[in-house]
Amino acid sequence: MTEHLERTFVALKPDAVQRGITGQIIHRLERSGMRLAAIKMLTADDELLKKHYSEHVDKDFYKGLKEFMQEGPVIAMVWEGVNAVENVRKLVGETAPKEAMPGTIRGDFAHMSFKHADAKGKAVKNLIHASGELNEAMEEIALWFDEKEIEDYSRSDIYHVR
Ligand code: PPS
Repeated sequence: MTEHLERTFVALKPDAVQRGITGQIIHRLERSGMRLAAIKMLTADDELLKKHYSEHVDKDFYKGLKEFMQEGPVIAMVWEGVNAVENVRKLVGETAPKEAMPGTIRGDFAHMSFKHADAKGKAVKNLIHASGELNEAMEEIALWFDEKEIEDYSRSDIYHVR
């Protein structure tokens, strides 16, 4: 990959699947010109979630987060593009939907606050996970995907950034 061309990990959470809005969310990532390099639907097991959320396992909200993430399948993806980690986070918006700006995925499709989630003892239903930093993205991609599941085709948009 050329300089600035990065891969990032994205998971559409069970609330996105249950609400039937995965297509609309994927559309937003796809229309940016970034390349979908891998995609699969799966129900995350305890071990996978413990590794994925390793920095949060000891926190009070982890139990609710684990239950939420196992309510149903998630759609795991790898997206590739110029500064993909930062760009995807920009499209996704703030972690708490209440704080997320209109125009972002969380701002447009969700509304829950941390305060409400904590009062209910539940996870904040924020539709989507996206890696926060490049090293985190590389770890998460390796955790969720085998190298052979990542496809190496070209989008025509690459012509404009090469
Ligand atoms: S982030 O978006 O990853 O930078 O956010 P961070 O604060 O580092 O990670 C928190 C993840 O836990 C999920 N979560 C909650 N956090 C705090 N309080 C509550 N109640 C809560 N419920 C869920 C939050 O969505 C972050 O996970 P991801 O998958 O990144 O969204």
